[in-house]
Amino acid sequence: MASAPAAEAQGGAPARRDERALRRQLERYAVRFNDAFWRFWDEAVAPGLPPRPVIADVGPGPGLFLRDLSARLPDAALHGLDADEAMIENAAALDYAGPVPSLRLMDAEAEPLPFADGAVDLLTMTAVLHTFADPFTFLREQAARVIGAGGRMLLYDWFRQPMRDYLTLRMIEPGEPEETRYRRALEQFRSHNKYTLDDWRWIFAESGLRVEAEASAPHPHARAWALRVG
Ligand SMILES: C[S@@+](CC[C@H](N)C(=O)[O-])C[C@H]1O[C@@H](n2cnc3c(N)ncnc32)[C@H](O)[C@@H]1O
Repeated sequence: MASAPAAEAQGGAPARRDERALRRQLERYAVRFNDAFWRFWDEAVAPGLPPRPVIADVGPGPGLFLRDLSARLPDAALHGLDADEAMIENAAALDYAGPVPSLRLMDAEAEPLPFADGAVDLLTMTAVLHTFADPFTFLREQAARVIGAGGRMLLYDWFRQPMRDYLTLRMIEPGEPEETRYRRALEQFRSHNKYTLDDWRWIFAESGLRVEAEASAPHPHARAWALRVG
């Protein structure tokens, strides 16, 4: 197995380091990256990729999605860009089936994505964009720029639920220790329920992206979209 290089530290503001968030991401990964998600990947995303795609994951967290992409696409050039150094370190320590991803510690809201125009075949963001203060500027000026006319974006994120439905599912879902489950669900309620499905579609349209495919329900509270410029 390949060994990963050390994370590339960037200049500017001090990096975040949230070990508890890292543990939570590791515990809850399988809840969202389930069979339904990978079916969407196989049917709507993978078939459009070139043989040796360049894939950039913004906010990869612990890197498990990059690791699973590497197993499916061992010839891909993978990149992970995250603002938290604990996440980058975890991603750097994983085993990858193909070439080791380049991992960069950076704030993708504050710094331009480090790719030339149109250089990325697939830009992925999973459970990240809802945390950005201004999704429009990021999509319009960064995402659309690096994928250009030929590339695509895979966006997988939460959409708004009634509080009762959200809390009920969080209480029975695996991946969060019993003793912290209720408090965590209450803490995350606001950020996970920020945008409705209509809000998401409007954000894409306002940002110059069109929906090419939409997963029906990879997770009951999240949607996946394949997006293109135009
Ligand atoms: C909820 S986690 C999702 C991790 C992973 N994508 C997944 O689906 O499991 C959000 C990740 O995005 C990163 N992130 C949030 N804002 C960011 C930013 N402005 N630039 C780079 N990474 C960011 C966080 O550090 C964290 O690792």
